Amino acid sequence: MSRTYTVAVVGATGAVGVEMLKTLEALNFPVKDIKLLASARSTGKKLTFNGFVTAVEELTENSFEGVDIALFSAGGSISKKFAPIAAKAGCVVVDNSSAFRMDPEVPLIVPEINAEDIKNQKGIIANPNCTTAITLMALYPFHKTFGLKRIFASSYQAVSGTGAKAILELEEQVKQIVEHKPVQPQVYPHQIAFNVLPHIDSWLDNGYTREEMKMENEGRKIMHLPQFRASVTCVRVPVYRAHSIAVSAEFERPVSIEAARQAIIDAPGIDLVDEPEKNLYPLPLAVAGKYNCQVGRIRKDCAMDNGLCFWVAGDQLLKGAALNAVQIAQELVKLWDK
Ligand code: A2P
Repeated sequence: MSRTYTVAVVGATGAVGVEMLKTLEALNFPVKDIKLLASARSTGKKLTFNGFVTAVEELTENSFEGVDIALFSAGGSISKKFAPIAAKAGCVVVDNSSAFRMDPEVPLIVPEINAEDIKNQKGIIANPNCTTAITLMALYPFHKTFGLKRIFASSYQAVSGTGAKAILELEEQVKQIVEHKPVQPQVYPHQIAFNVLPHIDSWLDNGYTREEMKMENEGRKIMHLPQFRASVTCVRVPVYRAHSIAVSAEFERPVSIEAARQAIIDAPGIDLVDEPEKNLYPLPLAVAGKYNCQVGRIRKDCAMDNGLCFWVAGDQLLKGAALNAVQIAQELVKLWDK
């Protein structure tokens, strides 16, 4: 009989935590016991997992005794403090925050790309930035075919990437505007309803934001491509769920549309949705709730040699967070069960 594992979800009540629980169920992850952890505010709140009602417990330094795998999604400061404590208690952490992603001791994983790096883990494995993970799902098959040099990209990121409060803010602002009432932004610095904000995360000295530079930094590590360069503008849009990214990519070798399409057809976790004459291309509304990302609008870039343009969309709560984390846990368990 194959082994079962005690799994903790840290941030179980949050937008990503809830999806982690659903994904563990949907993928039949071999769970022996589940431990739901959140702040003291949620103590006693009840969630259902695999048909059993389970009470949420407060996250403390003693939460990880007997836990095999802990999926963290409660923000960077919680991860910084508690992931090392969990690792020390003997469990392996899959961390959704940016706290450890660039730590050379911590593997940063998209299972379809670099699952083999998991074997180097020392107690913490990082889940990549959502926009980076979704972009790489299309970019990596193109890289294998044509040899990637650099990209220019703009993202169209949904409010659920910010968390449950931001979803509520968009909903409330839409109502307020339709009813001609004044809008008071709280989560974002400006009104998000009927607007787009070219600002995600904090500013860096080079004029980009932290979020924008994650594509280059994390992309290099995941694809094992230290020369990869990425110039990205990250934009928040009034979409509830699923991120989209418009990408122009430059390659070492000449590109062909046929080979590009075939690379996607052959790649796991990404679907080709590219029949523009039938108005068929990836849409955030269509990809929301789906495990696979979608890519379309594939065309030769008219402004550079060896260039491809494409439009990729994916559910950032799933491939950009919860699904990728559970897939990492599945790969880990495969190694343990060997
Ligand atoms: P809680 O619901 O008790 O606040 P989101 O990204 O949707 O905002 O969710 C954040 C998640 O992180 C929630 O599950 C939240 O729990 C959890 N969280 C926030 N602060 C803490 C904390 N200090 N200790 C443990 N969990 C926390």
